[in-house]
Amino acid sequence: MNQPNQSQPDSQLNRRGFLKTTSTALVGTSLLGGLTIERSAFAAGDDTIKIALIGCGGRGSGAADQALSTAGNVKLVAMADVFPGHLKGSLANLKNAHGDRVDVPEERQFVGFDAYKKAIALADLVILATPPGFRPIHIEEAVNAGKNIFAEKPIAVDGPGIRKVMAAAQLAKQKGLRVGIGFQRHHQVGYLESMKRIHDGAIGDIVSMRCYWNGDRPWKHPRKPNVSEMEYQLDNWYYFTWLCGDHIVEQHIHNLDVVNWLKQGHPVKAYGMGGAAKPRTSDDGEIFDHHAVEFEYADGSRMYSQCRHISNCWDSVAEHAQGTKGTIDLQDGGSFTIKGANPWSIRDRDFKPKSPYQVEHDDLFAAIRKNEPYFELDYGITSTMTAIMGRMATYSGKIITWDEAVNSPVSLAPETYAWDAKPKSLPDSNGMYGLPIPGDPKWVKKVV
Ligand SMILES: NC(=O)c1ccc[n+]([C@@H]2O[C@H](COP(=O)([O-])OP(=O)(O)OC[C@H]3O[C@@H](n4cnc5c(N)ncnc54)[C@H](O)[C@@H]3O)[C@@H](O)[C@H]2O)c1
Repeated sequence: MNQPNQSQPDSQLNRRGFLKTTSTALVGTSLLGGLTIERSAFAAGDDTIKIALIGCGGRGSGAADQALSTAGNVKLVAMADVFPGHLKGSLANLKNAHGDRVDVPEERQFVGFDAYKKAIALADLVILATPPGFRPIHIEEAVNAGKNIFAEKPIAVDGPGIRKVMAAAQLAKQKGLRVGIGFQRHHQVGYLESMKRIHDGAIGDIVSMRCYWNGDRPWKHPRKPNVSEMEYQLDNWYYFTWLCGDHIVEQHIHNLDVVNWLKQGHPVKAYGMGGAAKPRTSDDGEIFDHHAVEFEYADGSRMYSQCRHISNCWDSVAEHAQGTKGTIDLQDGGSFTIKGANPWSIRDRDFKPKSPYQVEHDDLFAAIRKNEPYFELDYGITSTMTAIMGRMATYSGKIITWDEAVNSPVSLAPETYAWDAKPKSLPDSNGMYGLPIPGDPKWVKKVV
């Protein structure tokens, strides 16, 4: 069978953290203007929404927990992962939390690189939560099969992947499918209230924006003996661009997405710099540890963006904007503040809102039950593309335009997905992976 030669511990899920949720609701639905809903979400005569989980790690298990916590009849009927231990650990935790709502016998537990196809076929709604390098083929499969989708961000890592998702998005609209994307800030009260005010003109015309995801680097798993390179890279997917997109795509995307939301558009070009400032070791993979990018919007305004994974430095995860009538600081220390002509402020802790991770599922499932349109994939695409364009700029050292980035022919994916397949980036004799060299024509061709 198509399986790794080393099974993963069943405690995997606990290690990665099972996302727990809290209380109350708000709505942040993106509407599909004038679309005919052709397809009922669930079989006639049965109001149970059947779910399949693809990618049973920390976030996928959290998303399944949230989907199973929505109102009405919901059942988890199939699960898929490349590592059997991840699937088993997730299943045990979900069963423990949700009892009969979890109905995944052995014959609906699928393992391997094509496991997703078998699980998707059995569901009304699929949760796609693998590393993002696989997201385009999973979205494509789900849309072709006519399934509603909750897909974690990012939804691609390169130009060919984005184009695949763009084509799937068109088809999903024609089919009237509902698609939620894991940008939970769109379901968080502080952001929703702030955006309402910004879009009503509270700070006037927006002239410049700043955003940051500066913090520590995330988990790393030591190389186990006798595992293939493919298995090592999958186990450490965060450190490989073909799987995670680099951290500007994987994490900083949240902040870039907020600024696009604020601007109600996307940048048209990007230029910047990045690299690895800390001495590297063989477990650092092939990603930079910092990126600083200036993004230019069509109206000439700029977004100044930074992301860094180095400890003991200045940390911030927040967004800020300067307008002609004032400024706004978003999620700065848990508060949202407008200064200037129309001062205003709220803090998350003042009203104990329900977790936006739960609300995004409540909203998606409610739309399915009411047969209402719900489509977050358009901004899933533009925000992912913004982040990819930023990475292309830091890796190449060039000015990268939106069109260049969208039409980039560079596919980061390996030729095939199999445990003995070779990823494009391999370690040298010291176990070190190559890093893009900005300005080097050989590298520029490989990254844009
Ligand atoms: N919205 C958020 O705040 C948020 C938070 C965390 C993670 N995420 C996103 O969720 C996704 C997963 O992150 P995570 O933290 O859960 O990672 P994880 O490593 O905990 O889980 C990923 C799972 O996918 C499995 N997998 C890998 N390749 C697969 C394939 N081809 N087919 C089936 N399964 C496969 C892995 O074995 C693992 O179990 C990422 O895109 C990440 O950006 C979003």
